[in-house]
Amino acid sequence: MPRYKVTFQPAGVTVEVDPALFPYGKHGQPGSVLDIALAHGVEVEHACGGVGVCGTCHVLVTNSADSLSPPTDDELDVIDAIPAHTLHSRLACQAVVAGDVTVTVPAHNHNAV
Ligand code: FES
Repeated sequence: MPRYKVTFQPAGVTVEVDPALFPYGKHGQPGSVLDIALAHGVEVEHACGGVGVCGTCHVLVTNSADSLSPPTDDELDVIDAIPAHTLHSRLACQAVVAGDVTVTVPAHNHNAV
């Protein structure tokens, strides 16, 4: 099975992940950006524990958005409620990695609901 590189900005941390090892932890979808971040010491807020309802795990996909699972309608609803959302916004707990990708963790995330 191929391995993927996930880069987190602004920390400048790149980790190589093996999908055969998903899930790494108990927060977010198995193999999600949040799952990978927490397993590699990258701080991403996750107030709801990774079940996709709080919006605090908001990240911006800065490269290779096609390497993530497509967002569900429920995820898009939560993203729409995040004041600083953009067309590149995803919930780290719901976006499952399926290729090399770079995400930026905003300096301040806030509960959307
Ligand atoms: Fe709450 Fe992702 S951790 S929406």
